[in-house]
Amino acid sequence: MDYESSSWIWDGVYYYPHLFGGLMLTAALLGFSTSYLSGIGLSYLPFPYMGIFHKRKCDKKRIRVYMDGCFDLMHYGHANALRQAKALGDELVVGLVSDEEIVANKGPPVLSMEERMALVSGLKWVDEVIADAPYEITEQFMNRLFHEHKIDYIIHGDDPCLLPDGSDAYALAKKVGRYKQIKRTEGVSSTDIVGRILTSIKVCKDGNGTHGEPQKESHSKNINMSQFLLTSRRIVQFSNGKGPGPNARVVYIDGAFDLFHAGHVEILKRARELGDFLLVGIYSDQTISDHRGSHYPIMLLHERTLSVLACRYVDEVIIGAPWQVTKDMITTFNISLVVHGTVSENNTLTQSKDDPYKVPRSMGMFRLLESPKDITTTSVAQRIIANHDAYMKRNAKKAASEKRYYEEKKYVSGD
Ligand SMILES: *[C@@H]1O[C@H](CO)[C@@H](O)[C@H](O)[C@H]1NC(C)=O
Ligand SMILES: *[C@@H]1O[C@H](CO)[C@@H](O)[C@H](O)[C@H]1NC(C)=O
Ligand SMILES: *[C@@H]1O[C@H](CO)[C@@H](O)[C@H](O)[C@H]1NC(C)=O
Ligand SMILES: *[C@@H]1O[C@H](CO)[C@@H](O)[C@H](O)[C@H]1NC(C)=O
Repeated sequence: MDYESSSWIWDGVYYYPHLFGGLMLTAALLGFSTSYLSGIGLSYLPFPYMGIFHKRKCDKKRIRVYMDGCFDLMHYGHANALRQAKALGDELVVGLVSDEEIVANKGPPVLSMEERMALVSGLKWVDEVIADAPYEITEQFMNRLFHEHKIDYIIHGDDPCLLPDGSDAYALAKKVGRYKQIKRTEGVSSTDIVGRILTSIKVCKDGNGTHGEPQKESHSKNINMSQFLLTSRRIVQFSNGKGPGPNARVVYIDGAFDLFHAGHVEILKRARELGDFLLVGIYSDQTISDHRGSHYPIMLLHERTLSVLACRYVDEVIIGAPWQVTKDMITTFNISLVVHGTVSENNTLTQSKDDPYKVPRSMGMFRLLESPKDITTTSVAQRIIANHDAYMKRNAKKAASEKRYYEEKKYVSGD
């Protein structure tokens, strides 16, 4: 909570219309106390604080908006959708589809509910998460959103969403004027990412490359690299736009942050807790290929940058950080502490050849952080490979509709 100005939290509580009725602080606020959500600005507020709320009585009501999704293989496209959704209100509530529903509708999810929860809760625009959203939104669930969760607007992307009987899934919300639409984010989809992983593995096998052998040119060939063009405006939208305060303790952590996952969120959270400002160094694509093989990274630097920036624990990033933490960097950014997680990718090509943290170690400002999770980019990729056939099928189906989209695509305006 100390990462943001906390005033909005109080405001948020105050403005709940049902606070003035009988029981204050209903399930919407109290129901979220798992450790993942501790980063979210919601916690139990005891009665004595009521005095604070009453001062603001005449201000306008806070608008609560809702958006749902599977958020499997979370990427910056999801993050951008949630950013846009948040901009349509004051508080963003995200509905996460359960593992069972995903299995029934799409096949096995790559990430578990717990991991998806960690990822979504770690986004700086998300205020609350509801963990059991239905895959297809029903009228019954919409009513629950309006009444139980006090949602003002349901937000959805501009792709049509039809129920099995062909009717519009959001008909009810539209009828009562509580539906708002956002633009699809260009350039990436989970389908595309699964495709990249599968292709990169295939090329790796066909080319007789192993994880230990560098492969020339496979990278440029194998992946129909991102169609995503990062603009300066998008970076600004994702940034906090603030430097460290006057006496801030700056913590530095670096890495590839490839296929941004729950392990990344957790280690960034821990790192942030050790200081006042978290600076994250994101390795360049070349640096990663040099150390881990040419089929890495899966996500390119500009894509990884947005994923890291979307995380609520991150204050600033260095886009294309060097492998070695240098004395000059430490001085330039006034870094007080350099941290690294105990769980990280294997640097198969350069193992134990160099210590990137030699300088901070010698200055007594390096700390190894116990990684809360053992998930890695490689382990996420391996889940997809292990389920190769299922994902191939799932992807082929989706790839067709993606292709259609790009063929019919027009100018995309807006945010
Ligand atoms: C892989 O390497 C082996 C031996 O080095 C060779 O016999 C085989 O043909 C190669 N396979 C491919 C697909 O290049
Ligand atoms: C890459 O994209 C081009 C053009 O869109 C397409 O013709 C080609 O088949 C794609 N290659 C792969 C490996 O997907
Ligand atoms: C540099 O960081 C230290 C904390 O480690 C802080 O006390 C000091 O004020 C910072 N220097 C500047 C110029 O902000
Ligand atoms: C790294 O390599 C070691 C030994 O080869 C292996 O036991 C470990 O699981 C690997 N770690 C990751 C994250 O791939």
